[in-house]
Amino acid sequence: MISHVRGKSCSLFKNNMFRVFTFDELPSTNDYLKHHASEYLHSDVIWAKKQTNGRGRFTRQWISGEDLTCSILFRKSEYAHTLLAPLAVVFALSTLGIETQIKWPNDILYKGKKCCGILVESIFEGNTFGYDIVGIGINVNNEFATDLIDKAIALPISIDIESLLYQLIRSYAMVLRMDQESILRQYRKYSYLIGKKITYRDELWDVLDFKEHGELNIGKDGVVKTLLSEEISLASIYKDR
Ligand code: BTN
Repeated sequence: MISHVRGKSCSLFKNNMFRVFTFDELPSTNDYLKHHASEYLHSDVIWAKKQTNGRGRFTRQWISGEDLTCSILFRKSEYAHTLLAPLAVVFALSTLGIETQIKWPNDILYKGKKCCGILVESIFEGNTFGYDIVGIGINVNNEFATDLIDKAIALPISIDIESLLYQLIRSYAMVLRMDQESILRQYRKYSYLIGKKITYRDELWDVLDFKEHGELNIGKDGVVKTLLSEEISLASIYKDR
């Protein structure tokens, strides 16, 4: 079913769980949702056909070409989106025959290179949880600047971006229904980091395991440290690839 709301094109997804709002162009789907959150409901999806000022973690830019750029609003606090969002992407791509891995906390890798970035932002009103915004960018047919060619890759996807979006939503609906144990089991299965060493604050650590809210346990000389997603930079991980 397709309808139009306040000048935006709005298509209601058939399982009635997600509504998709389509924009021809937005600076950033995450920023848009943050500024217009009061107009949207739990599990509403903002899809920009073209994103002109996308953001990544640590105020990095997300440069868009032909990619899928969308953000989902979640008003319930019980979900660990740092685990769920990567799993939803991996499952969606797998249905298209594209096998990918999760590089904690927010990258999806294809053939060892980044094909998708995820930006989860939790908004609090005072100390009270307000909502989560899950922003997802999947590279499809993008062209990369020379400094990114070694690290980034576009996926060879045969379906159009809108169909990819709907596949992603289907997969997200599925992971939202999974229990905690299955989420962690699947996350470990698709993790690129498990069993590897990473550099953290200029020291080599073993990656041990993931915890229920998406934290990463690393170990060195019998010491175990728990990292939150903010505490490790992509650069320190990429050095060891
Ligand atoms: C990262 O790799 O650091 C995260 C990149 C997240 C990019 C997506 S694209 C859709 C959404 N809107 C944004 O401005 N950023 C996210």
